[in-house]
Amino acid sequence: MALETIDLTAGRLIDQFSRPITYLRISVTDKCNLRCIYCMPEAGLPWLPKSEILSYEEIVAIVAAAADAGVRSIRITGGEPLIRRDIEKLISAIAAIPGIEDIALSTNALLLADQIDELVEAGLRRVNISLDTLREDRFFTIARRAGLADVKRGIQSAIDAGLHPIKLNCVVMRGHNDDELEDFARLTIDQPLFVRFIEVMPVHENAALQTETYVSTDEILARIAAIDDLQPVAGPSGNGPARYFAFPNAKGAVGVISPLSHDYCERCNRVRLTADGRLRMCLFGDQHVDLRTPLRGGASRSELEGLLRSAMAIKPERHHLRLGEPAARMRAFSEIGG
Ligand code: 5AD
Ligand code: SF4
Repeated sequence: MALETIDLTAGRLIDQFSRPITYLRISVTDKCNLRCIYCMPEAGLPWLPKSEILSYEEIVAIVAAAADAGVRSIRITGGEPLIRRDIEKLISAIAAIPGIEDIALSTNALLLADQIDELVEAGLRRVNISLDTLREDRFFTIARRAGLADVKRGIQSAIDAGLHPIKLNCVVMRGHNDDELEDFARLTIDQPLFVRFIEVMPVHENAALQTETYVSTDEILARIAAIDDLQPVAGPSGNGPARYFAFPNAKGAVGVISPLSHDYCERCNRVRLTADGRLRMCLFGDQHVDLRTPLRGGASRSELEGLLRSAMAIKPERHHLRLGEPAARMRAFSEIGG
């Protein structure tokens, strides 16, 4: 190896609980073209002014520093990331950063079919799609906007483009969509889809809904296991906290994500970059480091890397979520980068 390729500062980001942090989720906008009842109020949120939102150049500078510190996987989230102009340009710039091995996108898929070619060309290989119902009338009740046909087109476009894995994220709510669990689970038999059922989590504006509609993943699994033999499987590659199960000879698998009933904090490997440039250490805590101010003040790549390293000291050991009790200062996922 040539001497100049040896990076003497190399060393992984490790927090004080010995967890290697290799995964960075990046929210590129707080805005969304849906208004899911568990996520945001119908009127939307007080959106961030444009001047406070990181430019693509600024995001790339942070990812480069993060890659120097051992981050290998990136996820682009929002709000809804596909509403931000030219998102494929950000994806291809991130894909070109040495050390970044994996780029994924979390989207509601309304705009996915329109953009899939550019996204794949930019280097996107996998996608997570939010989908809480397979019925148009319900889609309107849950997402407060129409669009299921577009979402289905988006999912098909991802399958046709050969993206893998394709994960469908379904937030389960009693009385809203829990009667569709079996329909969702059956999708994994014939299609290469990974359907993940997520326990609804409390945020400030949904505390009542969360208490009323919460369904534990144990109950979800018990219901699905009644369809056919359901065996634990490794699941697709990814960074997620999901546990996976599959039916015999299924092309895909069912996953469950249990932020409340089973704690996965022990295996946490992630931090989040908000659209306005704060590095958030935990989805459910307020611990964060402002990266935008130093960045706009001219911080170098190695200074940014140093900030990332020192942020490890404030990453909490775990969250303390409880039924109906929202986490600190969290109004909506879009605010902090779902
Ligand atoms: N509870 C659980 N998941 C949520 N998401 C957003 N808000 C919540 C919540 N309160 C997740 C869902 C959604 C994605 C954008 O973020 O998976 O599909
Ligand atoms: Fe938008 Fe996702 Fe929130 Fe729904 S859950 S309003 S799709 S950010």
